[in-house]
Amino acid sequence: MKIREIQDEILRLKKEKDFCILAHTYQTPDICEIADFVGDSYALSVKAQGVENKSILMCGVRFMAETAKILSPKKRVFLSHKDAGCPMAEQFTRDYILATKKRFPEHKVVAYINTTAELKMVCDVCVTSSSALKIVKNMDSDKILFIPDINLGSYIAQKCPEKDIQLLKGGCPVHSGVTEEDVLDAKKAHPDALLLVHPECTPDVVKYADVVGSTKDIIDFAVQSTANEFIIGTENSTAEHLALACPEKDFYVLSKNLICPDMKLTTLSGVLGCLNGSDGEEIIIDDDTISKARHCIDEMLRLGN
Ligand code: 13P
Ligand code: SF4
Repeated sequence: MKIREIQDEILRLKKEKDFCILAHTYQTPDICEIADFVGDSYALSVKAQGVENKSILMCGVRFMAETAKILSPKKRVFLSHKDAGCPMAEQFTRDYILATKKRFPEHKVVAYINTTAELKMVCDVCVTSSSALKIVKNMDSDKILFIPDINLGSYIAQKCPEKDIQLLKGGCPVHSGVTEEDVLDAKKAHPDALLLVHPECTPDVVKYADVVGSTKDIIDFAVQSTANEFIIGTENSTAEHLALACPEKDFYVLSKNLICPDMKLTTLSGVLGCLNGSDGEEIIIDDDTISKARHCIDEMLRLGN
């Protein structure tokens, strides 16, 4: 089947079976084209809350589908590929976080949304990269244990020096693999380009950025900017989307290794299989986990507004 034919069949089945397809911006353009909504993890969470269709198909990674299920527990929620996880989400166990909380009894636990539902059960509030700074500043506690991303946590701690922010040594293997040398090479090759970087990159990379922000912040900035050249320091599909959206501007990838293998497990034929019931996975979460994990996602939506 040709790409267009698979896409048409997906659109037909999606309507027939009353699915809403949500896609993260790290998905490839052929997937984004058949989605009802494309966004960063914060925007996907907000959207998942108000979906009216019977079922949701998340083209992304497991924690995103889990978040959608927690926010819309009465709907059937499917993940586009059963093995699409986020390694960072699984870096710490619930027992480890409970033990760490004992070391910092006065600290509120702030969990990056890239965590499992099980982990969210023992945290106070979730954040995404686009909402983290606002939420941490809005929290009534000055003592924060930030899990699991040390890079996003360091960035927030630097922007919020008035709070005591304790960090764990987790992080994204894709973004944290970008080196200072990658930055210097890219800037040398494109001296007039602005550097836009995701805060999951290390401080050695972030310190060179003209703009630090979530996938959405990066896209919005590049689309609205009067500049013409940009080095994109986040997953490489973002540069691809921007090149399609703004053909008059030039976009360069910061590193050819900025590819999330888990995000790339989703394919058009996999999405079709998911709608047919032969691929993907339905997310099943027990009621206790949903109600405990929901608390910190609700706090995110309240404090992030
Ligand atoms: P965003 O919050 O920018 O969508 O990032 C999610 C993610 O997994 C980044 O690697
Ligand atoms: Fe997880 Fe990194 Fe992939 Fe984002 S890019 S889903 S943080 S592994």
